[in-house]
Amino acid sequence: MAEVIFDADERLWLLTTATTSYALRLDDSDVPKHVYWGPALTIGQVASIKVPVLSKISSVDGITDEELLVEGGSRFDAPSLQVKFSDGTRAFEWKYVDHTVDDGHLAIRFTDRHYPLEVVLHYRIGAGTDVIERWTTLRHTGADDPITLLRTDSASWFLPYRSGYQVTHTIGGWASEFRTQETPVPYGETVFTSRRGTSSHQANPFLFVHAGDEVWSGALAWSGSWRITLRHTANGQTSFTGGFGHEGLSWRLNPGEEWETPVFAGLYSADGLEAASRRWHAYVRNHVLPHADETRPVVYNSWEATEFDVNVTNQKNLAARAAELGCELFVMDDGWFGGRTHDAAGLGDWTVNLSRFPGGLNPLIAEVHRLGMRFGLWVEPEMVNPDSELYRRHPDWVMHMPNRTRTTMRNQLVLNFARTDVAEWAHKWLDQLVGQHEIDFLKWDMNRSFSEAGWPAGADQDRLWLDHVRHVYAIIDRLRADHPGLRIEACSGGGGRIDLGMLARTDQAWISDNTDALQRIDIQRGYSLIYPARTMSAWVTDSPNPFTGRAVPLAFRFHVAMAGVLGIGGNLLNWSSSDLAEARELLSQYKEIRHVVQHGVQYQLSAGPVTGVQYVLGKEVVVLLWRPTVNFGLPQLPVRLKALDPAARYSTGSAEYDGAVLLHHGFEPALPAGDYASAMLHFTEVTPS
Ligand code: GLA
Repeated sequence: MAEVIFDADERLWLLTTATTSYALRLDDSDVPKHVYWGPALTIGQVASIKVPVLSKISSVDGITDEELLVEGGSRFDAPSLQVKFSDGTRAFEWKYVDHTVDDGHLAIRFTDRHYPLEVVLHYRIGAGTDVIERWTTLRHTGADDPITLLRTDSASWFLPYRSGYQVTHTIGGWASEFRTQETPVPYGETVFTSRRGTSSHQANPFLFVHAGDEVWSGALAWSGSWRITLRHTANGQTSFTGGFGHEGLSWRLNPGEEWETPVFAGLYSADGLEAASRRWHAYVRNHVLPHADETRPVVYNSWEATEFDVNVTNQKNLAARAAELGCELFVMDDGWFGGRTHDAAGLGDWTVNLSRFPGGLNPLIAEVHRLGMRFGLWVEPEMVNPDSELYRRHPDWVMHMPNRTRTTMRNQLVLNFARTDVAEWAHKWLDQLVGQHEIDFLKWDMNRSFSEAGWPAGADQDRLWLDHVRHVYAIIDRLRADHPGLRIEACSGGGGRIDLGMLARTDQAWISDNTDALQRIDIQRGYSLIYPARTMSAWVTDSPNPFTGRAVPLAFRFHVAMAGVLGIGGNLLNWSSSDLAEARELLSQYKEIRHVVQHGVQYQLSAGPVTGVQYVLGKEVVVLLWRPTVNFGLPQLPVRLKALDPAARYSTGSAEYDGAVLLHHGFEPALPAGDYASAMLHFTEVTPS
């Protein structure tokens, strides 16, 4: 029941989500103080909670539990809002103006006591979820000098006093994303951040702070640089504040201008980390993704097979093999345009390479469609190789600074999409590409971080960090609106730009360039901390794996990739006929179970050397199990399933089990002997006769 109640006498707001409560109140000086975030309470109950919570906190400790901790006065923790006025005065002094409630959206308006700055705290609660979306808007209500913005976080999230808080988050790098870390919350301020212009491979903008089974988690809906500061004060208070941008940037807010931060969503749950993940999955499916009800097709992607050597013949040959296997979407990757025959040239020249595709793209597209598959194409609109016609024509279109080297990464520079002319150019060629061809799908890549992120002619250069992202969003939104059948995969050298902001406007994500099935288990698990399987694109590629040199049987590779949106990314022209036959069989098995994987509820499994994942949808249960290595003498433990009806019976077609036995004792999966053993089981709940 999503509801916002205001108690005027107490100056107290209570937000009631599906099963939790969140409360804040104004103190005598109009400062919005955090009151409560946890299991459901009534308005009377939250009214009895006194702020500050600990009476022993002395006045010299200063203000802490403020809904958006501002700089100034007796505040000494990392601020969420830092502003400077033209006379040098810093800080914000709260004066309450009014509030509105509209369909679960509470907006509380404040103004500074002296300066022309309005701050609105936004809270939005949606049906059927405990996730609270928060963001902040600022408005310069004066007519004179600009106001300098030094930090404008979306929200501060305060946790109750508990001992033993742990924080779970992910770290990584290119081809090694989403490595899960769990550590005690240290005293002081811990900063999770990206200064790269993307949400980044190195850290993903979410965190879980937990004590026992209680979990307070937060995720940013932003695809550029970001910062989340986890604060743990000596008096035991724990909170996190987050938003876009990173330290050192500043922006000018001009008279009359409004400033909107992205959403920083928060979730309280009381049933452990894994259940918190399931709540985030449901939120992403029900409130974030554009077409969550769609079942994603099986993709074939040609990147690992042909890399930059694409041509009409090899792509048609691959397409024929992919169609025979049962793939439903054929995606031609990099190398189809301009002089892009290797990674040092041609990026930015988005015209078809006619020596590789003499009749343009249409003959290939027609063939792919004739084979019964949809057609998709790789693009990397935000980038340019210095060796390209585009760069020779428009060297000023890239991010750059006078007297500074234009640092290349992967031989490319970043186009400055904050410039409206550059963004319009990109929209135009993308719109024409999609409009003039029957393109069903784009893989939108972004392969490097920002550097020399300057714009000599720009009025407010640090805006580039935000406006680049906003314009990427606007282009994708416009393309989707004008081409409603178009579907988009988010990619950034793998998982370098996956976040709630990107998932709000894409259909799936390429989570890592690392396709080694063994490493992928951990990458997928880290991804699953917050993002659902429905968005997790996963390919079966060649063995030995090109990254690790590891040889892994085909079935194991399939069973790992079947835990998400299955795709094939190997060179099918080199696969043996027995591999092709096995792949065809496994792919058709995936089609039987994928609705459960993509739309079901996910549970993590673990039994000795075996780990796995389970999905439940209605009466169907899909279990994928992986045993990378076997050690003689170590017992094979029974695999215990989760969330079944103990009173029901479950059948795999060949065997039948009691729900209670599967839950409490488990079953022994028939795994093949040797390393890299794996299995997929599909149980259906059966009515006992
Ligand atoms: C990135 C992507 C890959 C592939 C290449 C093409 O690395 O993550 O999947 O598209 O670019 O250059």
